[in-house]
Amino acid sequence: MVSKIRSSEITPESVFRQRRMILQAAGLGLGAVGATALLPERAGAATSDFGGKKVVEWTASTSEPQTSFEQATTYNNFYELGTDKGDPVKNADKLVTEPWTVEVGGECEKGGMYALEDILKPHAFEERVYRLRCVEAWSMVIPWVGFPLGDLLKRFEPNSNAKYVEFKTLLDPANLPGQKFPVLQWPYVEGLRIDEAMHPLTLMAVGLYGKELPGQSGAPLRLVVPWKYGFKSIKSIVSINFTEKQPDTSWNLSAPREYGFYSNVNPQVSHPRWSQAKERRLDADSSGFGALFAEKRDTEMFNGYAEDVAGLYTDLDLTRNF
Ligand code: MTE
Repeated sequence: MVSKIRSSEITPESVFRQRRMILQAAGLGLGAVGATALLPERAGAATSDFGGKKVVEWTASTSEPQTSFEQATTYNNFYELGTDKGDPVKNADKLVTEPWTVEVGGECEKGGMYALEDILKPHAFEERVYRLRCVEAWSMVIPWVGFPLGDLLKRFEPNSNAKYVEFKTLLDPANLPGQKFPVLQWPYVEGLRIDEAMHPLTLMAVGLYGKELPGQSGAPLRLVVPWKYGFKSIKSIVSINFTEKQPDTSWNLSAPREYGFYSNVNPQVSHPRWSQAKERRLDADSSGFGALFAEKRDTEMFNGYAEDVAGLYTDLDLTRNF
């Protein structure tokens, strides 16, 4: 069942921002679920090939210096492959990604088992350079390859009960060394409110730096939610479930006082054990030293994406809903 997605518009960022201001003025903020129909920030020239598909550069990418490929793929959190930052790259070959299927279910019309190829086929790929801020107070700037999650979700035709989307990572304790230990409840689970999931910034990533995702980065399919702490960006997704109730999330189950459902980057709300006001940017200059010697900078509200996403949370007390 591959439903047809209309071909995207090519819209420079300035035009998009103007259009958004007009829509917001008209009371049609991007928070509304239907708003992804506007899908905006498609851009200029095709930059490269990716598995036979053209990758289109996204004009709204940050131009900040990028983290090196080496650092982004050797300093990872992927507990299924071990809890040390260097474990995921060492154990990446333990993640078996072929064949890969995604089970889609819950409050939608077109649930079922989808082969990875069918998930990807209709989508145009974009390269989007996003900041990603880890809850451990380091951040990276990474060129991802992917497509808006909302474009995928719409194909499954969620119904009006679909208030949230729940994601699960592969459960494979025979192969994944971290799943032999109860450091978290397995499988890793995450969730987004449906409007967050449909927001045009929320990316389903298949690659980074023009290459397919390596195992440690969450092959073959992962989320990137740039205004939230990194742990919301669940890796190696095998299940997408539309729910009426707020789903469980792994870090909230593990330490509810420390990790809430929303997990929006917020320099004003400290983690109970450390401040979130500053972060260390892991870029080319800090290569090789992990987070230790990298430059410290102020953390921005919603990781610098406030202009795009603050409207999703106007009714929420963000100190209680952290
Ligand atoms: N997804 C799964 N399945 N397992 C994990 O342990 N770690 C999260 C998130 N996604 C994690 C996961 C955390 S804590 C962070 S900061 C990011 O992945 C790190 O992504 P990166 O290694 O690509 O930087």
